[in-house]
Amino acid sequence: MASSSKTFYITTPIYYVNDSPHIGHAYTTLACDVTARFKRMDGYDVFFLTGTDEHGQKVEKSASLEGLDPKTFTDRVSQNFRDLTSEMNYSQDQFIRTTEERHQRCSQEIWKRLFKNGHIYLDKYAGWYAIRDEAFYHEKELINQTDGRKIAPTGAEVEWVEEPSYFFALSKWQDKLLNFYEQNPNFIAPKSRKNEVISFVSSGLRDLSVSRTSFSWGIPVPNDSEHIIYVWLDALSNYLTATGFPNEQDKKYKKYWPPDLHMVGKDILRFHAVYWPAFLMAAGMEPPKRIFAHGWWTNEGKKISKSLGNVINPRELRDQYGLDQVRFFLLREVPFGSDGDFSHESIVSRINNELANDLGNLVQRSLSMINRYYDAVIPEPSVLLDADKILLGKAGTLLEVNRAHFDVQAFHLALEAIWTVVRSANIYVDHQAPWKLIKENPTRAGTTLWVLANTIKQIALMLKPFIPISADKILDQLVVPKDFRNFTNFGQNHTEISGTKIPKPEGIFPRHLSEKDKTVKI
Ligand code: MSP
Repeated sequence: MASSSKTFYITTPIYYVNDSPHIGHAYTTLACDVTARFKRMDGYDVFFLTGTDEHGQKVEKSASLEGLDPKTFTDRVSQNFRDLTSEMNYSQDQFIRTTEERHQRCSQEIWKRLFKNGHIYLDKYAGWYAIRDEAFYHEKELINQTDGRKIAPTGAEVEWVEEPSYFFALSKWQDKLLNFYEQNPNFIAPKSRKNEVISFVSSGLRDLSVSRTSFSWGIPVPNDSEHIIYVWLDALSNYLTATGFPNEQDKKYKKYWPPDLHMVGKDILRFHAVYWPAFLMAAGMEPPKRIFAHGWWTNEGKKISKSLGNVINPRELRDQYGLDQVRFFLLREVPFGSDGDFSHESIVSRINNELANDLGNLVQRSLSMINRYYDAVIPEPSVLLDADKILLGKAGTLLEVNRAHFDVQAFHLALEAIWTVVRSANIYVDHQAPWKLIKENPTRAGTTLWVLANTIKQIALMLKPFIPISADKILDQLVVPKDFRNFTNFGQNHTEISGTKIPKPEGIFPRHLSEKDKTVKI
């Protein structure tokens, strides 16, 4: 596609390399991938970034538990996250690692700017720290356990830390942040999360410890090698590193900064919506445009955790159900932004009812009739009746409708809008009954099959960001040229499809036997 003046910079969080990728990680990146693909099809010049967060105490500890030095360990685990991107068919433009040299330069430059602008001072930290969250907690935030232990509100264990530390003067940013949120009402979404952030900031901000001295796996503080930069300041700056910063003449930096969307899980919203804009403003740089915090998945009603042994491996899920089936399920099942519960029963039901029955049958029966009655050539339309116009109209407006849904990350609503058309198309087939018309009124039969071919084409185009491989299979069956698989002229070129010779239709979404079906069979 020709280069575009509309740019879109989207990021995933960078993943800690203390562990293997699981469904939660796959989910965040999937949401970004679907957005990046949609925007590209819609003519944007997209920069989609993902990667790994490799410093800090948590990673250092995991490496030592494996008896490895952190570098060897992070090389290995980071590769698992890189592999996940191809296993899930993600289309990132760059995969960043915080152990790269360019990132050290970027992170240190931000530090220098904060220091030069008078926002960082040396003191001593004495307080609680949760290694799992890589976060400092105030005594009053902690929850007392019956056994006398204290835990963070996230459930993470905390330990008492006392060490010399540099501080970022976050307390000075309270009013500026509140003002920023007011000026930029779409900065934090969903709304409930935004309210949480505003109430957190309104209740008063304490200065933030931004360096550590009790371990060494991190980026050295400029001019004080006793300290390493706090892992969150290090990690957040990855979004700048990837654009070529500190080279402000870098084409990427000029083109893409500030990011259009940081996609994060609800657990890490505070870092992105409070600390990050404060760091950036203090360094004299523009903050991102939007942070969206999605919900968390549980597994059959239970919190996903290694200790419970119920971690869902995205690769296994894909092998069991199919890649696009998993991609579809994750964004279809739960309103994006809310928490969701994974269950085998619900994924099987989505696959069978919506992919195999609704969509699969629509494609299969429509194309089979073209194959059988029209020698596999998509017929010419004749006069369009109201029913035809209504269905084509519904399909043709999908782009506008879904642009609005994508603008607010309502992926579930985008899929629902597509399914409304899928269901209408099935009703249309039933009512029009082309298999009967072919005998009574062949011209009319041809028109209905042409309407269906067009509708299926629009459906497949709209589904392409979500289920790229399957949508391409549908578009292959309609022989839509690769160059036309975008949103340019969406819903307009209805006639160009007729006269196309199509291949013999093949099923795209096999049905899955549910556990119940399997029991009945035996
Ligand atoms: N390294 C930090 C992010 C730094 S970004 C500058 C981090 N990494 S993480 O690997 O722990 O988590 C990354 C993302 O995975 C978070 O957005 C988190 O919400 C998401 N998920 C982890 N478990 C999840 C679920 N069970 N469900 C949905 N998403 C969850 O935080």
